[in-house]
Amino acid sequence: MSGEFKTAIVRRPGPDFGTGLTTATGEPPDFEKALEQHRAYIEALARLGVDVVELDALSRFPDAYFVEDTAVVCETVAVVTRPGAEERRGEEESIEPVLARFRPIERIGSPGTVDGGDVLEVGDHFLIGVSDRTNEEGAGQLGEILSRHGKTWSAMAVGSGLHLKSSLAALDDETLLVTPEYVNRQELKAWEKVVVETGEEYAANTLAVNGTLLVPAGYPGVLRKLEARGFPLVVLDVSEARRMDGGLSCMSLRF
Ligand code: GLY
Repeated sequence: MSGEFKTAIVRRPGPDFGTGLTTATGEPPDFEKALEQHRAYIEALARLGVDVVELDALSRFPDAYFVEDTAVVCETVAVVTRPGAEERRGEEESIEPVLARFRPIERIGSPGTVDGGDVLEVGDHFLIGVSDRTNEEGAGQLGEILSRHGKTWSAMAVGSGLHLKSSLAALDDETLLVTPEYVNRQELKAWEKVVVETGEEYAANTLAVNGTLLVPAGYPGVLRKLEARGFPLVVLDVSEARRMDGGLSCMSLRF
């Protein structure tokens, strides 16, 4: 089932996190603020009944705080990815021993690449985005592993945004939150859609956790739509993650 989690792995941002990859221009991120926002995120997960495993910052990997990109986890397996950005390759090695405490491990092999941010679980189905970070080979390898573990999957091209989940979230097993760009995508025709307004695209990176939606602060149109549907909401400020092309989903690895 989408969004039901017992455990989440998070990693604290390090003082160098502002040197990570980003397409954002403007002010550099503020480390103290990032730590504060990360703490509030952990507390929100804990209040929703999730056991949070907190890892230290990983030296030499300023993006490792976006821990979701290093693995895809379902009930019976943890698939350690091979991140698409050269600069991030190596982050996955540090997550493997942590995940091995919870699940048997499988791995994406070269020349495949997968970032967890391109993988959206909706019920028992996995949508795998093919993007600048996740290639077709990686999507195929991941799909094959997930099939062996009783899941269905499909691949789709990622349009704008870093990852598939920059533009798409599962609100529950039947409903997706999507940016306007994804409303008419054939690959998504099986699901009902709530569409974020133009100008609020970043809020498509909303995160369902145990019946509550974590929503980024600053997007009143999306909040109104989600409230009208009766979802319990927790609004979190993730301004500093946003400056590094990250958001609510990539800040944890949930299962
Ligand atoms: N800064 C997150 C990423 O580019 O992977």
